[in-house]
Amino acid sequence: MCGIIGITGRVDAVDGIVAGLKRLEYRGYDSAGVVTGDGRALRIVKRAGKLENLTGALAEQADGALSASTGIGHTRWATHGAPNDRNAHPHTDPDGRVAVVHNGIVENYQQLKSSLGDVRFASETDSEVVAHLVARHLDEADAPDLLTAVRRVVADLKGAYSLCLVSRDEPDTIVVAKHEAPLIVAHADGVGYCASDVAALIAHTRDVSALLDGQIARITPDGVEVVDVDGAPAKPHDYHVSWDLEAAEKQGYEHFMLKEIFEQPQAVHDTLLDRHRPDAGGGSPRLRLDELRIDERDLARIDKVFILACGTSLHAGMVGKLAIEHWAGIPVDVEVASEFRYRDPIVDKNTLVIAISQSGETVDTIAAASHARDQRSPVVSLVNVVGSTLAREADGVLYTHAGPEVAVASTKAFTTQIVGCLLLGLYLAQVRGRMYATETADILSRLQQIPDALEEVLGLDAEITALAERYTDVDYTMFIGRHSGLPIAMEGALKLKEISYLHAEAFPAGEMKHGPIALIEPGSLVIALAPAGHVFAKMVSNIQEVRARGASVLAIGTADSAAELKDHADHVLALPEPPHELAGPVLSVVPLQLFSYRVATLRGEDVDQPRNLAKTVTVE
Ligand code: G6P
Repeated sequence: MCGIIGITGRVDAVDGIVAGLKRLEYRGYDSAGVVTGDGRALRIVKRAGKLENLTGALAEQADGALSASTGIGHTRWATHGAPNDRNAHPHTDPDGRVAVVHNGIVENYQQLKSSLGDVRFASETDSEVVAHLVARHLDEADAPDLLTAVRRVVADLKGAYSLCLVSRDEPDTIVVAKHEAPLIVAHADGVGYCASDVAALIAHTRDVSALLDGQIARITPDGVEVVDVDGAPAKPHDYHVSWDLEAAEKQGYEHFMLKEIFEQPQAVHDTLLDRHRPDAGGGSPRLRLDELRIDERDLARIDKVFILACGTSLHAGMVGKLAIEHWAGIPVDVEVASEFRYRDPIVDKNTLVIAISQSGETVDTIAAASHARDQRSPVVSLVNVVGSTLAREADGVLYTHAGPEVAVASTKAFTTQIVGCLLLGLYLAQVRGRMYATETADILSRLQQIPDALEEVLGLDAEITALAERYTDVDYTMFIGRHSGLPIAMEGALKLKEISYLHAEAFPAGEMKHGPIALIEPGSLVIALAPAGHVFAKMVSNIQEVRARGASVLAIGTADSAAELKDHADHVLALPEPPHELAGPVLSVVPLQLFSYRVATLRGEDVDQPRNLAKTVTVE
């Protein structure tokens, strides 16, 4: 979390920094700050709270007080120290010679602070010590420049960080360092840039370089120089961003979340595009996942799959388990990434790890995947952000092509991740010879119907809004489901609590009788996932049980189950019949996304920036 941006070579660096911070605010919004330098002094403005507090404070500055061609900015998701003005970044050394902004956690900061002796720190952060240390190194006998001083400091740092620094004495220079937290650098038209995410740079350039772990860069208006910790030239990962500025805007929607919900038909279409075709030399069409890069013979040997992810991506992984077990016949465990490497997972070269992440930067998922790779397991990442750490570090990647997702509550990334999981399930079945080619082709062609079916589901928005109005103040909502309805129940509960702060939980419908049903009382709302299919009759029984105890039931059904559900539930939403039972979750999550969105907006909550959360979680 935390967003970083730096610009050098532009007359109005501060305007550019504020515009960039706006695009990075999804990474945290506890405070924001900016620093510029003119060769005589560093000037800092920082404020607790959202970016608008900083822009307000900047507007109050005397004309030209901060104008400079070089500056860096930060938006914070607090880890060490309360979210107040004092702990807001940038931080400086006591003489105000060096300023730093930081994303990540310096784990040995206490030790480093002690090594400085009797020094006063202005904040409670782990980050401030970096400015102190760099300033100390600048005083060394060989009078190092900022780049060299930063190199000497990072050699002593432990933890995850991307750092961005300016020095009073080197006015046109920004120095950055990266280790386990993302940092992009770029140079275009005589301006040097750095940022946590390409979204902050897309207005300036689409040709960028992601720094790799251990790399340090000096950015000036003349270009970007990348070195390793010893000062030897190093090569970052260069790439071109395929989407443009317009895709990163709200385009008339009230919130990014709503825009992204309505983009799902297109996003799913793009994820499915061009997957089934002959190879370059002709022959019969096959399912092709070009970036997977793992030898089909190795995939054929896999005897176990781990799916590792966090948050919404974990729920997509739960659908992935059903698909892989059903089509490919391989046992699958789905695990919260943050737990994986702290136990003794049994993985070897015959274990396939699928790491799912929208951002490709979630540190728990990256660390879990790398733990598995250390034990020789091939790792496939299912990722949305092209060029992200997980995409680069995995042996193979399957991109979801959802386009930029800005709202903290994930929507289109989720539905495209499910589609990605279905593709992986079919692909594993194909390489293992578990399916006739005609069967794979038939399922793939049926999946092409999902975008139209999604449009139909989005057409239920008015009906869903009316339901949201009715249940805006319900204290407790329980989501229940079975089989592919269970991950969607979990995702529905997560969405509701994330953005409306209402208490919501999800349970396997069959588990209700073992405890959770004790929570049901008159007035409780139960949202039940009840598509037609092999568990429908069981779901009906579970719905009866909660209704008998006074709950109101909203059933999410399908064309073939809706008529019967009407006898059992207070409200029934009839979704189109999915083209395959395992594709059902792609459709059934949408009413829950819309319901949460409508409830949250009716309650006046800040949907795109829910409290305490951040979109990209780069701390453990
Ligand atoms: C955060 C976000 C969630 C997201 C999770 C995993 O918690 O708020 O929306 O599902 O991180 O993120 P990833 O980028 O790895 O999918």
